[in-house]
Amino acid sequence: MKLNIALLPGDGIGPEVVDQAVKVCDAVAKKFNHEINWTKALTGASAIDACGEPYPDSTHEVCMAADAVLFGAIGDPKYDNDPKATVRPEQGLLKMRQKLGLFANVRPTFTFPSLIDNSPLKRERIEGTDLIILRELTGGIYFGERGRKDDGNTAFDTCTYTREEIQRLAKLGFELAMTRGKKLCCVDKANVLESSRLWRETVQAMEKDYPEVTVSYEFVDAVAMRLVQWPNSYDVMITENLFGDILTDEASVISGSMGLMPSASKGVHTSLYEPIHGSYPQAAGKDIANPLATVLSAAMMFEDAFGLKEEAEAIREVVNKSLAAGIVTEDLAGSNKAYKTSEVGNWLAENI
Ligand code: IPM
Ligand code: MN
Repeated sequence: MKLNIALLPGDGIGPEVVDQAVKVCDAVAKKFNHEINWTKALTGASAIDACGEPYPDSTHEVCMAADAVLFGAIGDPKYDNDPKATVRPEQGLLKMRQKLGLFANVRPTFTFPSLIDNSPLKRERIEGTDLIILRELTGGIYFGERGRKDDGNTAFDTCTYTREEIQRLAKLGFELAMTRGKKLCCVDKANVLESSRLWRETVQAMEKDYPEVTVSYEFVDAVAMRLVQWPNSYDVMITENLFGDILTDEASVISGSMGLMPSASKGVHTSLYEPIHGSYPQAAGKDIANPLATVLSAAMMFEDAFGLKEEAEAIREVVNKSLAAGIVTEDLAGSNKAYKTSEVGNWLAENI
């Protein structure tokens, strides 16, 4: 099979971790007789430096023409500490999500048997956790009307959702639940927010189409607690953009390292696969970042974008092998030898 993949390394550790995923994908392609055509493009701070735009049109064209996008991370501290910066790397990410119509962000949380004691949570709390947070990604407060009033002394951001936006996300949630534990939790703040009441009403109306799925409705503050108390009680969660942003960071703690969690974003055009961690600028260029989240995102890409399940399984297997063999970066090494990012990538590619 011919696979046309857009490669967006981005900023910070993005390029290093993406390089390892490319090695692994190329090894998979060789083993299973596929031909990958990688097209690199700029995003984030590196794109601002090159052309003043964090998601240039040329990059969008590359993404639109590809079958899938593999993405690293974006963000650069030089913009974080400058509240007056008019162009920011994160705007590139938001623009990309919007222009590619990536309305659904799939963020799985699971534990690795060999790493369970890396989690700050107790083993008995997290064992068996296997949940997916489906975060709405192109609506809500991230994209609502915002601004300043009263000579800049009052600021506002608005959270707006249409029934249709909720329906298309919830539909994916129900369908996903049907392929798994048949449990769906709608996370909202319907005791306070009107937009949340529309979420609840819309999801309730869809329940009859999925009689096998057990649906629960929970307030986001309660979920924030239960997620670290009984994560294995959840199967699929659906939620709006900002709640999803917060809960998915919280959920990543369960697995013991943010460096492990992959994600997929899907919607109207080309789907995108990326690690959930950020650009980790302190580690950039040091060859120490954990590439596994990106490698596992590539596994999601094989399965999801190309329907290549065996290839995805081969990647997950080799990742598990590397964890069991202790071929890991410093974040997971503890008192054992820490391998470099590139060494982990080479090992994975050789052992595919
Ligand atoms: C994420 C990130 C982004 C978000 C930032 C970088 C804009 O935190 O993908 O979760 O808030 O969506
Ligand atoms: Mn986030």
